[in-house]
Amino acid sequence: QKPSNLTIEGKSYPADQWTNTPETILSHVGRRLYLDDNHPLAITRQLIESQFPTPIFGNYSEKTRLYHPGRSRTDTYYINEKTVLRTHTSAHQQAYFQQINRNEQTRPEEVGYTVIADVFRRDAIDRSHYPVFHQMEGAMLWKRPSKDPLAHSADTAAKITADLEKIPRHDVVVEDPNPTIHPQRNPLQAEHHSAEEVEAVATHLKRSLERMVIRIFTEASKAAAASTGTEVDPEPLKVRWVEAYFPFTSPSWELEVFWQGDWLEILGCGVIKQDLLISSDVPDRIGWAFGLGLERIAMLLFNIPDIRLFWSRDERFLSQFRAGHISRFEPFSKHPACYKDVAFWLPPAAVSGGSSAAGGAVPFHENDVMEIVRGIGGDLVEDVALIDEFTHPKTARKSMCYRINYRSLERTLTNEEANDMHDKVRSRLVGELGVQLR
Ligand code: PHE
Repeated sequence: QKPSNLTIEGKSYPADQWTNTPETILSHVGRRLYLDDNHPLAITRQLIESQFPTPIFGNYSEKTRLYHPGRSRTDTYYINEKTVLRTHTSAHQQAYFQQINRNEQTRPEEVGYTVIADVFRRDAIDRSHYPVFHQMEGAMLWKRPSKDPLAHSADTAAKITADLEKIPRHDVVVEDPNPTIHPQRNPLQAEHHSAEEVEAVATHLKRSLERMVIRIFTEASKAAAASTGTEVDPEPLKVRWVEAYFPFTSPSWELEVFWQGDWLEILGCGVIKQDLLISSDVPDRIGWAFGLGLERIAMLLFNIPDIRLFWSRDERFLSQFRAGHISRFEPFSKHPACYKDVAFWLPPAAVSGGSSAAGGAVPFHENDVMEIVRGIGGDLVEDVALIDEFTHPKTARKSMCYRINYRSLERTLTNEEANDMHDKVRSRLVGELGVQLR
């Protein structure tokens, strides 16, 4: 029953033994929710883009794009051996750096960009994970003296610091306990940058992103206060910087915001690796980049409790939002949950936690269970949780038990419907993963 070709936006691609992209995923390709002005993702996009305006930043979006494989098969959707669905917006960095270089004569003031795109990842199933979501990435670059930039790094730092003065200050207290550069955890790219320059880039980066996040959370607080009839938000905003690691930046950070009792990670960022700029035709520039997930921000701006709702075509959802307005989502009636468990023994050769590769014995990976459930239940599954796991002391065989919550956002499911889906899940687990039901 496996198709021999996959069709993506009208083009056909031959399937092979690497193909693991189901029709349910392909049906989301090209929906471009961020272009529907009254959709919460588009409203969120616009709010963020307004913090990175022209002429310094170009604001772009990318149509669905296919890429060369770079990540493990367990969390990536392969179209075939040579092609995958984009897993993050950082895939576009090189193209946008090259664009800045190309447009140097015609649009010299445009030295930064934001880009938004849909991204695809095989992942867990719960109310904050969906295999298709949206990321925004942004960057800003400064020109350095091209002959021996390190010798002139004080000039570069001064230029960046002058630009810093153009960003309005804010009065939110931001925790930032760590030094900009840490030799092990957050190293300077010493062969390319001076500490002084990096200090300047980091300060500019931090103030730009703090402003954006403060703007978002001020809007969210206002909307929350309006919906409860409170005059002003009583809680002052708490924001902090945390050291991080990303393959394309060093030093790197994450920005976290304290929201409803928890520190919430909002974005990743850092000083762009110079090797990347060198290979993108802008060896004489230095700069910063950041990336964030739009759904997470939209969920808290609009108080949207389930990530599946973004894909809803139900007017009860869509009619609640209007371009330029942050409002609180009014849930329509919540339909009953229907929990079903499935327990099985892994095949003797399968070791959990490994990553599957084409050919040979396929190790067990939880995302394969998730894909089977999604393939059958689609958006009718709210949550899949591992509730029990043990290894038999004599046979050394491993047993897993998953609890699947079948619940529609739009209507009440009958027990018969849920049973029917669950039976199919059980038989596909046996057929495709070789497990033995218990
Ligand atoms: N792409 C990173 C992620 O998906 C975020 C990031 C973008 C970090 C750019 C640094 C610079 O988490």
